[in-house]
Amino acid sequence: MAKLFFLLSGENETLPFAELSAILEAEGYKYSILEKLDQVIRLKSDAKCIKSVYLRSAYTRICALELFTCEAYEDTIIDCMNDIKLNRLINENKSFAVRIKRIRNYAEKQIVMSLERKIGKIILNKTKKTRVNLTVPDNIFVGILTSGKFVFGLKIVAISPKPFGERRPRKKPFFHPSAMPSKLARGMVNLARAKKNDLILDPFCGTGSTLIEATFISCRTVGLDAKRKMIKGCKKNLKHFNINPEGLILADARKHPILKVDCVVTDPPYGRCCSTMKSTTKKIVEDVLSAATSLLDKGDKICIASPKSIHLSVVGEKIGYKHLESHYVYVHGSLTREIAVFEKN
Ligand SMILES: C[S@@+](CC[C@H](N)C(=O)[O-])C[C@H]1O[C@@H](n2cnc3c(N)ncnc32)[C@H](O)[C@@H]1O
Repeated sequence: MAKLFFLLSGENETLPFAELSAILEAEGYKYSILEKLDQVIRLKSDAKCIKSVYLRSAYTRICALELFTCEAYEDTIIDCMNDIKLNRLINENKSFAVRIKRIRNYAEKQIVMSLERKIGKIILNKTKKTRVNLTVPDNIFVGILTSGKFVFGLKIVAISPKPFGERRPRKKPFFHPSAMPSKLARGMVNLARAKKNDLILDPFCGTGSTLIEATFISCRTVGLDAKRKMIKGCKKNLKHFNINPEGLILADARKHPILKVDCVVTDPPYGRCCSTMKSTTKKIVEDVLSAATSLLDKGDKICIASPKSIHLSVVGEKIGYKHLESHYVYVHGSLTREIAVFEKN
């Protein structure tokens, strides 16, 4: 087990950490949390888990091997730097850079540059024939100042959120205002603990955001929508990404024609930019959760989104699911989504 730390996106308080844990669980990595800090999670796990996080995560920014963590006082940090061994981490003739990040206002701006300089000097002294290269370094040491702590280590990978921006609803050939941001769709697929080759159902597939994000992490997909226009549009979007779902069916989610899937990830209509078709948001959520029970085996998961006012956790528990977690995502003044994860009992 290696000591690792992950820098998480600050855009939501609970979702980034929950997504990371869900990825580790889905991929079968055992882990133990060492510490949860603002936007940073320190844990012990197999270092190979970094590859899975890199390939799947929407809300992780940096994965690193931890060298030490201490109180965020400059003198303490320098003492810890002087104590660590670095010779096996960075080879002769290789270059490096030190990058210090400050989360929110946990530290003064000036300390960042001062630490980069001082830590760089110590690394030069402790290693053989290495040099500083700030543009294309062979190795990057990263230090994060957060929650009164300084977490320091060797960066293994950085994860760019850019691809999600490139797949945002307006960039797809078929756009509909009800479409979910691709980053959130990926986050939901991860929260459902979907594994490679699993069959994921989105019974309200709309423009196909869930199907697309699930395919990008090697899942098989099937989508339903009750509107012909949405099925046609979804097909167009999937084709744009060269995606062949197992099925894309014009059907009512409440009376679905599906026999078995591994998990359900979905965003039922809110009756705002897409109609609930003579039902209500709450009723449609109840109906689809009830209809989904026959599709899943014990332990399988459903990740579902709805306006916070629906109280998904209560609705799902009443139907007989085990409520695992809920996250709240602010959209605008009159809409905050609850993203709930349920397990079939
Ligand atoms: C909130 S949108 C889904 C958005 C989708 N996640 C996306 O990113 O494009 C809800 C979708 O459910 C569809 N819908 C509404 N009632 C339905 C029903 N009873 N069965 C299946 N689909 C339905 C709507 O046509 C709409 O496309």
